[in-house]
This record gives sequence, structure tokens and C-alpha cells, in this order.
Amino acid sequence: MSLIKTAQEITKLKRGGVILSNTLGKIMRACQVGASTAELDQLARAELAERGARPSFLGYQISPNDPPYPAALCISINDEVVHGQASSERIIKDGDVVGLDIGAWYEGLATDMAATVIVGRVEEDKRLLVENTKEALKRGLAVVKEGALVGDIGAAIEDFLGPKKYGIIRDLVGHGVGHAVHEEPQIPNFRDPGAPKTELKEGMVLAIEPMVALGTWKVKMKDDGWTIVTADGSPAAHFEVTIAVTKNGYELITPWPDS
Ligand code: MF3
Ligand code: CO
Repeated sequence: MSLIKTAQEITKLKRGGVILSNTLGKIMRACQVGASTAELDQLARAELAERGARPSFLGYQISPNDPPYPAALCISINDEVVHGQASSERIIKDGDVVGLDIGAWYEGLATDMAATVIVGRVEEDKRLLVENTKEALKRGLAVVKEGALVGDIGAAIEDFLGPKKYGIIRDLVGHGVGHAVHEEPQIPNFRDPGAPKTELKEGMVLAIEPMVALGTWKVKMKDDGWTIVTADGSPAAHFEVTIAVTKNGYELITPWPDS
């Protein structure tokens, strides 16, 4: 299917994006000391169902041999970068840095978004990590327009984060989205000289999602076959929005949630 979405598809994507953003906003507000991650996942399912949307991560397999993803929401706490698991035994604590990542199908089209919340009091370096990861996403978005290269996005993100000595995760990248949870092109969050020189075109729909660690960029997979953690145990942050490329910039498909 075409990577260029029609105006009608973009209209539908925006309706789905508003539902997704409102849902994520509710989950962010519910992400407080004592909440179980299973409860947050249930909230995600209930909110999407009530608005006529369907969770896109539930049952999803990144490749055919993967275990199907067991929840609607990815909840990644502290050293977990992405794809953390919901469980009634995993309870949110004071000082946690919590990545909340959710995707939905609405009117046949998929949107994707994520935000990281700080629960209670955290050290200043963690607070700055979260703030700078969100700012890095904004820097990446700022270079998006028809004719720019996919690589310009990662270059802008790296230019902002590199001097701060964070680890920009390299094994996971942003992606096209809409007809599938993951479509071409892949969108690295760093300068990748070997990457294809893909041009952005009006109507491309992209999920841009910097994942950033306080320490090393290296990650490993936990035994559950899903959860990605930093190799050095340092905390990580993740923000993601879905956008549509336009002639002079982009349209936000998933509005920033109010937390
Ligand atoms: N939001 C994740 C990504 O950005 C997708 C999660 S994969 C899933 O690409 F299996 F957890 F759904
Ligand atoms: Co994504």
C-alpha cells in the first residue's frame, strides 16, 4: 500500500489521533504512586473501546516468531526503554520515570504515540532527561517538510542531544504508520551516514520517537521477550507523535496530550 496517504485518509487519521491523545492524557493522569501497571493497561483498553478505537499493540508481532504483544499499553519504568509489561504486580512508585506508549486502529488506520511521566519527586538529572527527550522530538519535527531527508530528523535530534552526553538509542527507530503499525521508512534518532537518502513527501505519515538514556545507548532484551532495558541500568525516556508531512512542514495527527 502507498506510503502517501490521501487527504481523506489524513482526515480519518486525525480523528483517530485525537482519540489516542485523549486516551494517553487520561493514562498519564492515572499514572500515580500505587497504581498497578495492569490497571493502566485496563484503562487504555476501556478508553479506546469507549471511543470506538481498537488497540493496535494487543496481539502485535514485530516479526512472525515473536510472542504476540499481550497488552494495549507499553509501560516502561526507569531502565526500561520501551515495550515494558503490564502486570498486577508491577506498581508505580514515587520517583519512577514511566514511559507510556499506545497505538490504535480507528476507521481502518493506525496511529502511535508515547510520553514519559515523572511520578512524584525525582533527581534533577532524570527530570532533565525527560524534558530534553521531549525537546529532542520537537527539534526533529522542526525539520520535517516535503523535500527534507529522513536523515535530517535524526541529525536534528542528535545535534540537540549529543552535546548533553545522553545515549541516543540506536537499535530502535521511528517509522511510517497508518496502514500498518510499522511501515517504511525507518527513522533513526541519530546521524546515520549509511542510511538511504529517502526524501520526505507530502502525505507521508510518520511516527517520530526519540528514545534516550541517561547513560549508554546500548540496550538488551529481558527474558520476557519484549522489554528492552538499557545495558547499564540507567533510566530512559521516550516521546512519540504521529504526523503527516506537508509542503511546508507537518500536521500533528496525535495532538500533544495535556497531562
Ligand atoms: N510504539 C511501539 C513502536 O513505536 C510499538 C510497540 S510494539 C508492540 O513502534 F508490540 F508493543 F506493540
Ligand atoms: Co512507534
